[in-house]
Amino acid sequence: MSPEALLDKAREAASHAYAPYSQFPVGCALLLDDGRVVTGCNVENASYGLTMCAERGAVSRMIIDGDREPASSDATGAAATGRPRIVAAAIAGLKAAPCYPCGACRQVLHEFDCERIVVENNETKKPVVIDFAEILPHAFGPNDL
Ligand code: THU
Repeated sequence: MSPEALLDKAREAASHAYAPYSQFPVGCALLLDDGRVVTGCNVENASYGLTMCAERGAVSRMIIDGDREPASSDATGAAATGRPRIVAAAIAGLKAAPCYPCGACRQVLHEFDCERIVVENNETKKPVVIDFAEILPHAFGPNDL
């Protein structure tokens, strides 16, 4: 799938956001190594700190909809096996571009070897593709345990 198409999926997901407090709808579309595309949007809460970002919503959905073996089979104590791999994560904020993933979401995306992100150029509205290592250098992940 092209960066343009993935970013479009993120924009579409953002239109589902529940963001009554910030009025800042965000959507995320994950392209997985098996070709699946999984989307998420931010879901806010009256207890503000419980807000779920679009990226982490998409990751939850990726796991729930996935067909991995039960978690116990990959509890090796070392690098988790059988985990889905994220080829690219597109993020779209309907109120601001580019919308980069927050720090917490960067760490969660790294868990699944996210290779690159796609954000929107503010002027051209075209996708900008960025290597994940650029936004989370020296990351700690499953391979470091
Ligand atoms: N938000 C995301 O969904 N993803 C990000 O990476 C940045 C922030 C959401 C959280 C909150 O609902 C709103 O944007 C404003 O922070």
